[in-house]
Amino acid sequence: GRVAVFMGGDSAERAVSLKSGQAVLEALLAAGVDAFAVDVRGCLLKTVENPEFDRVFIALHGRGGEDGTLQAILSQAGIPYTGSDVLASALAMDKLRTKYVFAGCGLPTPKFRTMASIDEADDILAELRVPLSVKPSREGSSIGIRKVSNRGELVEAYEDACSHDPLVLVEEWIEGPEFTVSVLQDRALPAIGLSTDHVFYDYDAKYLADDTRYQIPCGLAAADEQRLQQLAVDAFRVVGCRTWGRVDIMQDRNGGFWLLEVNTVPGMTDHSLVPMAARAAGISFEELVVRILKDTLE
Ligand code: DAL
Ligand code: MG
Repeated sequence: GRVAVFMGGDSAERAVSLKSGQAVLEALLAAGVDAFAVDVRGCLLKTVENPEFDRVFIALHGRGGEDGTLQAILSQAGIPYTGSDVLASALAMDKLRTKYVFAGCGLPTPKFRTMASIDEADDILAELRVPLSVKPSREGSSIGIRKVSNRGELVEAYEDACSHDPLVLVEEWIEGPEFTVSVLQDRALPAIGLSTDHVFYDYDAKYLADDTRYQIPCGLAAADEQRLQQLAVDAFRVVGCRTWGRVDIMQDRNGGFWLLEVNTVPGMTDHSLVPMAARAAGISFEELVVRILKDTLE
């Protein structure tokens, strides 16, 4: 059968998705799979009208493609697709509700609350310890995220976050380092340690800077890395993810790990972390892509 690689889309992560999609397409073609690209713009329903494919590799990031909307349409049309189902996709796209699930399951996640207007700034500063991270709940690639230390910054960050998503999450800042654990077929790949001279691993550090440092092996003692990997697998499971994903985790100064979020369609660009972790585990990019695709055949 033919495989459509869905990429691009209309989300704020369009540019990243085009790169992920192109890399995935090239790998599928190299592996001998009959595949072609579809830039998914406008109404998602159009994508399942007279489809010229019988499977979809989803390389869309962000709202519309990664958040369960597309997954629901493909499910309804009976077209198999890669990655997580409707519920897990929708949940993982929403950092706030993901944290409710983590907290409800007893998994460690930084202390948090929502912010619905600037009038809540004083309450938030009384309730949470600065510095804080202010995030649009349903966005990716760190778009709209800021670190704040006082009321003025909090108000500004809220307004910025709000312009990306009216649902705004405020959480206590963990100084880091940051780690990310890729999950493939329900197993954790080697963890990657991230360091940057930016305030945090932001959009520029992710895609533009060439001074972002990726540590793999991640530098933790074996037992600590195992604990980190187990936490990632637990997070992946409680959100209900399928096949593949990437879990972002901070470590505090006492060695404790704190879950930030789960990504159900992590980046697959040449700067991206899942391909890097796979490579460290002896899995080529081509094999990675083929394995993700094969999981749609059930
Ligand atoms: N949202 C970006 C693509 C990532 O998680 O890698
Ligand atoms: Mg994300």
